[in-house]
Amino acid sequence: MQIRPGIHWVGVRDPELEIFDVIIPTEFGTTYNSYLIEADEPALIDGVKKEFEEEFFAKLEEKIDLGDLRHVVVNHTEPDHSGSIGELLRRAPHVTVHGSRAAIQFLSEQVNMEFNKRIVGENDVLDLGNRKLRFIMAPFLHWPDTIWTYLEGEGVLFTCDGFGSHFCFPEGKILASQQEVDFTGAVEHYFDSIMGPFKPKVREALAKLEGLELDLIATGHGPILDTGLERYIELYHQWSSEEGKNGRRKVVVAYASAYGHTKRMAELIAAGAGSNPAVEVELIDVGNAPRDQILEALDAFDALILGSPTINADAVYPVWRVLESVSAITAKGKVAAVFGNYGWSGEAAGLLEERLEKMRLVVAHPAVKVRFSLTAEDEQRCLSLGRTIAEAVS
Ligand code: FEO
Repeated sequence: MQIRPGIHWVGVRDPELEIFDVIIPTEFGTTYNSYLIEADEPALIDGVKKEFEEEFFAKLEEKIDLGDLRHVVVNHTEPDHSGSIGELLRRAPHVTVHGSRAAIQFLSEQVNMEFNKRIVGENDVLDLGNRKLRFIMAPFLHWPDTIWTYLEGEGVLFTCDGFGSHFCFPEGKILASQQEVDFTGAVEHYFDSIMGPFKPKVREALAKLEGLELDLIATGHGPILDTGLERYIELYHQWSSEEGKNGRRKVVVAYASAYGHTKRMAELIAAGAGSNPAVEVELIDVGNAPRDQILEALDAFDALILGSPTINADAVYPVWRVLESVSAITAKGKVAAVFGNYGWSGEAAGLLEERLEKMRLVVAHPAVKVRFSLTAEDEQRCLSLGRTIAEAVS
């Protein structure tokens, strides 16, 4: 499918996908977009997930004898894009792979074979003869390896996960302008799930688009953005901005509770933190809240206070799961604390504390643990925990 003169979409659709990366629900399936650029030295931008490689190679080989392919750009090496690159290297013996230092390293460890490679940096150019690609470093969107690739003079930006959506477009209707339903919600859900933890990095990457002539944003997932580009960029600016905090610091109290005691502790801690006017508090029962709500609560927190009862000598799964959604990269150095109710031994709080410290958050208050029902003194300890954490961030 030709999306611009001499640029072909050779990706695949995955309408049945229900869960991405183990934890992200994908209501509308997804696509894995790959692009072939015709040129004196033809180039492929990104690949597809391995289980779709037969379909991928059938499309690709319809367009080009792989012996003629000269370049492969890996904007990102998560296997939903790089899973087919190993087979590509076997079938296309004359290619050089271009990617960031991290991407080349990751790919080497994925394919476990020798290949021609070139590590690229900011504004490096790949000359295809009659066309030129320029590389824009976009680290941590959402892996350390990420880059964007710009087709000079033609306004086409290949962004892989950036601006993408888990939205499987109908067969043959690959462009945003061809969609009959508004998929903005899928773009936003994708941003929240994938890019949300890396907002400062998103802002850095967006700054590099200033003044860049853009006609098409060719994403790695979902419809290719051929219309309303400014709107998508503006949405990315909004979603990644620090605004909405009203200048106040955000303390999240996230807990699960078995018999209501941890819940009571959470409420007291939230009240203690909320007594500080410089702080806004988000109290969330992660045992019962939907994932989207949990992600929203965790968005741009300044302090995270986690609470869990101890069951089977451990914290409970919904609380561990909160930490799956916290990036150790962007949460590093942020304030944290833990609490929990228990009946026998009370290991949960200590285990959570250990994990937060390993993620290099700063545990700013000793764990508050309460055995069975709360006493008046326990209630004061909870209020005090909340106040101390609020003080630490304000
Ligand atoms: Fe679509 Fe991060 O891979």
